[in-house]
Amino acid sequence: MQFNRKHLLGLEELTAEEIRMILDTAVPFKEISERQIKKVPVLRGKTIINLFFEPSTRTRISFEFAEKRLSADTIHVGVSQSSVVKGETLVDMARNLEAMRIDMVVIRHPASGAPAFLAERIDSNVINAGDGWHEHPTQGLLDMLTLRDEFGKLKGLKVVIVGDVVHSRVARSNIWGLKKMGAKVGVCGPPTLVPRSLEAMGVEIYPRIEDVLAEADAINVLRIQLERMQSNMFPSLGEYNRLYGISTEKLEKAGRDVLILHPGPMNRGVEIDSDVADGDYQVILKQVTNGVAVRMAVLFLLAGGKPARAAEVAATLE
Ligand code: CP
Repeated sequence: MQFNRKHLLGLEELTAEEIRMILDTAVPFKEISERQIKKVPVLRGKTIINLFFEPSTRTRISFEFAEKRLSADTIHVGVSQSSVVKGETLVDMARNLEAMRIDMVVIRHPASGAPAFLAERIDSNVINAGDGWHEHPTQGLLDMLTLRDEFGKLKGLKVVIVGDVVHSRVARSNIWGLKKMGAKVGVCGPPTLVPRSLEAMGVEIYPRIEDVLAEADAINVLRIQLERMQSNMFPSLGEYNRLYGISTEKLEKAGRDVLILHPGPMNRGVEIDSDVADGDYQVILKQVTNGVAVRMAVLFLLAGGKPARAAEVAATLE
């Protein structure tokens, strides 16, 4: 079986088989990051440009590690250091980079659809590292890998996404991905942040966090994205925390184990309390570790790597 896509733009267009292929390919790649010499010669000679038009810690550095650990040549371009600030368009910029002979572009952009727009206009493989409110496919994949590690399966799991769903590309990628893999998906948050249109995607809407805690196997806690809100969408951060924030008190009251994920960055004391963020229920840093392996898998497959050879390739020493 081969991964036959040129780009990774979102999980909406992937089949369950393709998602499974990426997750399975990531598994042998995990071990590379645990070695003293964290490098295999898989993408030697490939040149990858990381175009980040929005701030990022996890995704940017995780892609950079994944590329370097696969021996690609990699260059980071932050928008403030590029000629975009002088008025150059995204496509002109990318075509100029292609004139220097690149192979792949990883792009984070505030506009939904920017990676797809670019993919139609350049020859390189394009990977969406988060576009506006649309999708963040590698985050969805690393969340699914972490859930599969913890529960041994995705099919039948009940995963509820809590918080600022309306502004969240992470929510959309998780919903598409988890539904395709047979999980039951719910969302919870203030009505202003949880669009009813999600019901059309087969997602259950929970008005109360107590009901989520009583039913969910795992909760993916989203950051309140104050920078994307045009007006106050709930009365105060304190009230948000009281009604929807994940606290030890609420978890203990539920009286059952619920796994806590958060894509980061976290607003401690708003959507998640510090004792939960650092506590026994969470797998937040395991998500970050899995992010490198998932991104290695995506790069390997888009470069034409065969899923069946992933273990053999990952075992190669530099
Ligand atoms: N989860 C995530 O996308 O984090 P960054 O914005 O730091 O990349």
